[in-house]
Amino acid sequence: MYCKEVNLLHDNLSIEGNNLCFAGYDTVELAKIYGTPLMLLDEQRIRSTMRTYKNAMEKYFGNGARPLYASKALSFVGIYQIAKEEGICTDIVSLGELYTAKKAGFPLENAFFHGNCKTDFDIEYAIENGIGYFIVDTYDELYAIDRIAREKGVSQKILLRITPGIDPHTHVAISTGKVDSKFGTAIETGQALEITEKAISLHNISLEGFHCHIGSQIFEIEPFCDAADIMLSFIDNVKSTLGYTPKLLNLGGGFGVRYVESDPVISYEENIKKIAEHINSYCEKNQLHKPVILMEPGRSIVADSGMTIYTVGSVKEIPGYKNYVAIDGGMSDNPRYALYNSSYTVLCANKMNEDPTYNCTIAGRLCESGDLIQENVSIPPVVRGDNIAVLVTGAYNYSMSSNYNRINRPLVLMLGDKIRVAINREKFEDVSRLDEFLD
Ligand code: LLP
Repeated sequence: MYCKEVNLLHDNLSIEGNNLCFAGYDTVELAKIYGTPLMLLDEQRIRSTMRTYKNAMEKYFGNGARPLYASKALSFVGIYQIAKEEGICTDIVSLGELYTAKKAGFPLENAFFHGNCKTDFDIEYAIENGIGYFIVDTYDELYAIDRIAREKGVSQKILLRITPGIDPHTHVAISTGKVDSKFGTAIETGQALEITEKAISLHNISLEGFHCHIGSQIFEIEPFCDAADIMLSFIDNVKSTLGYTPKLLNLGGGFGVRYVESDPVISYEENIKKIAEHINSYCEKNQLHKPVILMEPGRSIVADSGMTIYTVGSVKEIPGYKNYVAIDGGMSDNPRYALYNSSYTVLCANKMNEDPTYNCTIAGRLCESGDLIQENVSIPPVVRGDNIAVLVTGAYNYSMSSNYNRINRPLVLMLGDKIRVAINREKFEDVSRLDEFLD
């Protein structure tokens, strides 16, 4: 089943005969054996991207810098096992993610709990399970953590989430735009300084530093450098006004991933190096204290380590309009086109040597007209039974999947030295597991 490498969108893709291979495995063979829809993960690539972040951050930021895997991108027991083995931290946003990490044996002192509406139950459960840090959004949360930590007789480490007012898509620091966000506390309204002062004064809170996150799927480094400048100046202001020097500065996630050929090729190591050089020289020039830098990559760790393979169920041609190729999955396993019009590369996995002359829309099987995976793609002419591959589906696909139409979620395989089941295919019993008969 092992294939030779050729140059496709990413170097974990190759062709053997007429078939598409991923992580060295023939996807058409896998579809035959395991059925479709089928999500495939490339274990080596996940590990090597985690290592790239870890090594580059240690090398260029120094000083204990480290990445946290933002597990909202893809959360399941195995990914926390891998993160643990690779020695990186994690970011979680719910008790579901926390529970999954705990089940995997992930050391929760290396977990950072995000979210703009943590309940008392969330806070209690996380503290009882030894969560490392809360990333605090608001006063309500700050007071609740202080109260619950007091009840439990602990001092709880936190970071404060701050909005630096950056628009990552224009590189301009926007003075009001990002103030209107459900996340974090803004610098320019003065509220960031106020909440910092309050956090310092609370007895059961240990303020360890600050966090910001400017956006996702960003290819340039300038927005990260701008955000870092604003956060470092804020930290300087905090130091001179309140006499407090934070240990940690978390710059969030957001590095872009190549979904289609027109997306740029970027090197995460090179980006980290440039951001680190910028921060180091900014701190030196302005004689600022450099905190320990954290980053929270999600998409860039798992997106191109994943792909999905489907089977064509029907081909429908509407003369004068367009052609629809319907597949046996859809927005229930990948809602990103329906939600954001996201671009994907679509291939016919069993016709890799045939000319892509057939223009069509790839439609899902759900009862919803907007259930499309991609419009206006060119693939070879296909028939029922052919395999459609959608590339770069590792991030925000399975983690955003649903049971709409009571469709069962796909099987997820981890392809490494051997093939391992990462997440079982949902069964019909699973889909109705929580239902009760009415008396
Ligand atoms: N940290 C925080 C606080 C975040 O909110 C996010 C993503 C990350 C880190 C990770 O960012 P990444 O490295 O993955 O870009 N569902 C959308 C993406 C939402 C991102 C939410 N926050 C999508 O499918 O494109």
